[in-house]
Amino acid sequence: MTLSVIVVAAGSGERLQATSPKAFVPLGGKTLLEHCLTPLLGLDHPLQVIVVAPEGWETPAETLARSVLDSDQSEWVIDLSVVTGGASRTESVRRGLALVSEAADYVLIHDAARALTPTDVFQRVVDALKEGHPGVIPVLPVVDTIVPVDPSTAVTAEAHPRDALGAVQTPQGFHHQALRHAYDEFVGDATDDAAVFRAAGGDVRAVPGHREGLKVTYPEDLVTLELLAGVAPAMAPGGVAGVLVGTGVDVHQFDADKGLVLGGMEFHGVPGLAGHSDGDVIVHAMTDALLAAASLGDLGAHFGVDRPEYEGVSSTTLLRHALGLLQEAGFAPASVSVQYIANHPKIGPVREEMCRALSGLVGAPVHVAGTTTDGLGLTGRGEGAAAIATALVVPHKLV
Ligand code: CTP
Ligand code: MG
Repeated sequence: MTLSVIVVAAGSGERLQATSPKAFVPLGGKTLLEHCLTPLLGLDHPLQVIVVAPEGWETPAETLARSVLDSDQSEWVIDLSVVTGGASRTESVRRGLALVSEAADYVLIHDAARALTPTDVFQRVVDALKEGHPGVIPVLPVVDTIVPVDPSTAVTAEAHPRDALGAVQTPQGFHHQALRHAYDEFVGDATDDAAVFRAAGGDVRAVPGHREGLKVTYPEDLVTLELLAGVAPAMAPGGVAGVLVGTGVDVHQFDADKGLVLGGMEFHGVPGLAGHSDGDVIVHAMTDALLAAASLGDLGAHFGVDRPEYEGVSSTTLLRHALGLLQEAGFAPASVSVQYIANHPKIGPVREEMCRALSGLVGAPVHVAGTTTDGLGLTGRGEGAAAIATALVVPHKLV
């Protein structure tokens, strides 16, 4: 028995508003395309896999698909091909279908957007096909009350009884030749393949779907999938969803002619730190970490020596500016951790006051720790001070 799986991944993901087509958006460190192919490795049938990719994305699609399917576990994958999609889902399926091997008994059609659909669902569809059902779709019970509504938003009839309704998912499976016949007959666009199959008179059987088969449509769907699947939050450039992390490091020489400002606090009777501004390594490292987390460049890019208006400005003023940039870009700080590295001053006695003030400024928990380098290096020799910071930021909608 040979099975062909068409993965339709050619949509642009307009509603997701990501910087790349939907199938290439990351979720927990992997693209949706990689996620949606992974469950195929759990099927024990010879498989032909056809990925339908957006125009211009065929090569990345093939590279990603091979990275999943050419692994040791994929002894059943006999062929992989990538084809350019069309203007509608129906057209994309047609283009995939054109590549299905004549030898295939069954064809599964799967939305890349249903990235976490488990192997079990694929298996249920295949089992029902093998039992002789010519068309099989995974279906979930409907939780909302569904009413017919016309375009003027008038409710036109009573609610359908929920028990008689189902929410349709993918993969949808069909006997190969019957599906070809249905697509040959079909004119127009349909939102799924069962509609095409039924239009040609084909019988369609429902099997249980899965909540993880949720289709990623809007940005918040990515957050739901992360929670459902317990995967690490998406590290999405542009902040589609999830938590983003940034690192900042700063080092300054001690300068006995200046007063010391550290973590926004003034220290008396100790040498200060040299620098374009007040040399506050703690606040500089924090600012860099926050900018980095939001992919907004670094301190130098915004407040560098080529910006004379920032000469002598307090570091907390720069941090406020940076927080404004984050806000404009759609991010809010979630937490910041800083380690100050120098022989003096000791952080312990001022930690509580410093953390409280910085947390208030940032609007999220800030923790400051201190350490020495055991007499080694520039900080150990007492020539200067350093700080390393890590910041987490989240899109506004998550806070
Ligand atoms: N799809 C496709 N070719 C198209 C349109 C959609 O292959 N021309 C695929 C999508 O990649 C997705 C599935 O069909 O895996 C379901 O479509 P949908 O969720 O609507 O995705 P998009 O069309 O990408 O999203 P949007 O409608 O928000 O633009
Ligand atoms: Mg669409």
